Amino acid sequence: MAQSPRRDEAAETSGSHRVSASGDLEVSTYLEIAREREGERPAHPEAPPERPETIVVIDFGSQYSMLIARRVRECHVYCELVPHDTPREAIEQLRPRGFILSGGPASVYDEGAPQAPSYVFESGLPVLGICYGMQLLAHQLGGKVSPGPTREYGHAVIHRADPTEAPSPIFAGLPESMPVWMSHGDRIVQPPPGFHSLAYSDSSPIAVMGNDDGLIGLQFHPEVVHTPYGKQLLENFLYRICGCKGDWTAGNVIAESIDRIRRDVGNDRVLCALSGGVDSAVAAALVHTAVGDQLTCIFVDNGLLRREEPERVVATFQKHMAMRLVHVDASQRFLDALAGVTDPETKRKRVGETFIRVFEEEAGKLGRFEVICQGTTYPDVIESAPQGGESKAAAKIKTHHNVGGLPEEMTFRLIEPLRYLFKDEVRQVGLALDLPEEMVFRQPFPGPGLAIRIIGEVTREKLETLRAADWVVMDEIKRAGLYRELWQSFAVLTDTRSVGVMGDYRTYGYVVAVRAVTAEDAMTADWARLPYDVLARIANRIVNEVPAVNRVVYDITSKPPGTIEWE
Ligand code: XMP
Repeated sequence: MAQSPRRDEAAETSGSHRVSASGDLEVSTYLEIAREREGERPAHPEAPPERPETIVVIDFGSQYSMLIARRVRECHVYCELVPHDTPREAIEQLRPRGFILSGGPASVYDEGAPQAPSYVFESGLPVLGICYGMQLLAHQLGGKVSPGPTREYGHAVIHRADPTEAPSPIFAGLPESMPVWMSHGDRIVQPPPGFHSLAYSDSSPIAVMGNDDGLIGLQFHPEVVHTPYGKQLLENFLYRICGCKGDWTAGNVIAESIDRIRRDVGNDRVLCALSGGVDSAVAAALVHTAVGDQLTCIFVDNGLLRREEPERVVATFQKHMAMRLVHVDASQRFLDALAGVTDPETKRKRVGETFIRVFEEEAGKLGRFEVICQGTTYPDVIESAPQGGESKAAAKIKTHHNVGGLPEEMTFRLIEPLRYLFKDEVRQVGLALDLPEEMVFRQPFPGPGLAIRIIGEVTREKLETLRAADWVVMDEIKRAGLYRELWQSFAVLTDTRSVGVMGDYRTYGYVVAVRAVTAEDAMTADWARLPYDVLARIANRIVNEVPAVNRVVYDITSKPPGTIEWE
């Protein structure tokens, strides 16, 4: 499989200073660094051992490539997204039922434009080319692609080429005309031998083409929500053309994972670091279901979590799931490490170092563990693939090479039960394993926690103030039914104080900033247009309920140019 070398390259690529990862991933990263220092590489399973029906999505660099993979999974068909230069042997191991060629920014006539690998066409399997992928089908199989007179971008309507004939299986059950989302410059002017034009739009004489061997090209993007019949088109390809049955369900995933975990773990002991986030929670729940008390979890309470979160972790895992859980209240250690620190990156470093030290000490008390469980998910794996020489994981790993005091004696095998799952799938698995919805749908939370939401020095008093203000934000956002719609919503305690008036008195208190963003992933985000009455209730309650605060502002900066967090 292609993933292991990518991980290795990622570790060696230099990176930027900012960490873009969930808290869970951050914990994982600390552990991974610890392991690499031991000179060992994580021993990832080479492929999911049971072979579900698999579709391979070949990535030509479209911003929608990961979305294609998610949509295929939503149709209950397992798929993997691989770079376009993935070697034949790696693909053969996956035993695919069909290929999807993604879109991409290139023109087939660009010098060095990526090509579909020859094994795709030699396999005899169905192929769905999307946008650039369709142009590759035309170009490589003897058709003609030419630059369109205008770039076609946005909504368009396609019409079936010959509505009097029985529709091609790709159109089964769909209307003769339908809205789609286009984004292309070049277009097909002559299909390759054996292909027919199946649909046209105003600007594309050949908007859909296909042959009798299950090779189909779509000029538009079925994976985006602006193509309302996109899911049915994909389902038609998967079920009617590739012959898939849809065996990728939460139940099957759990059954397979449990088998695999049992095989990987044997009679050994497993250690898992819980962060309070979704990924480590679901990973631990899966491992616990598989091997019961062979699993011990360590929850390092850094004192930087939101109100009631530590209690929830303990209640869920210790009381509800009856897991062996070591709850370490290390809040004072973290506070000591952060004393006097105002620089954001130094805060991150201090939190990272302290986590490693505490984790090492606690793990040391528990005797020998042969296996470590980590909540790495599929986007973490995909995003580790180097793009243009740099990758997000590389950036993250490099940052944490700065952490000091790495453990000296950690030798263990690594299991990553969520390595092949998207976040939505992780959540489905979590629900099926009976984890509380509150935990399963928790918004992302940064590893350094509230330390990077307090501008300036972090103190116990400021943490209390921020927790109280943040609680109001969360409470009102949930009450308004917005929690799941928002990517993140939280309060920031600024280091600015302002004058106010309460009754007959002047006050001089802190300014709290409220941040709420919508996003598909954390690379870009937009500030949420929260209803005024929700904002009004938040501001009113914070000023009334949190004594040290007398003013509330709302952050209306998108990312870019802002970041989601303030530090
Ligand atoms: P920014 O602020 O860079 O955040 O727009 C993007 C996403 O990453 C989270 N974030 C972090 N997560 N350690 C983490 O584990 C960090 O140091 C860190 N900094 C930011 C942030 O919450 C958002 O989801």
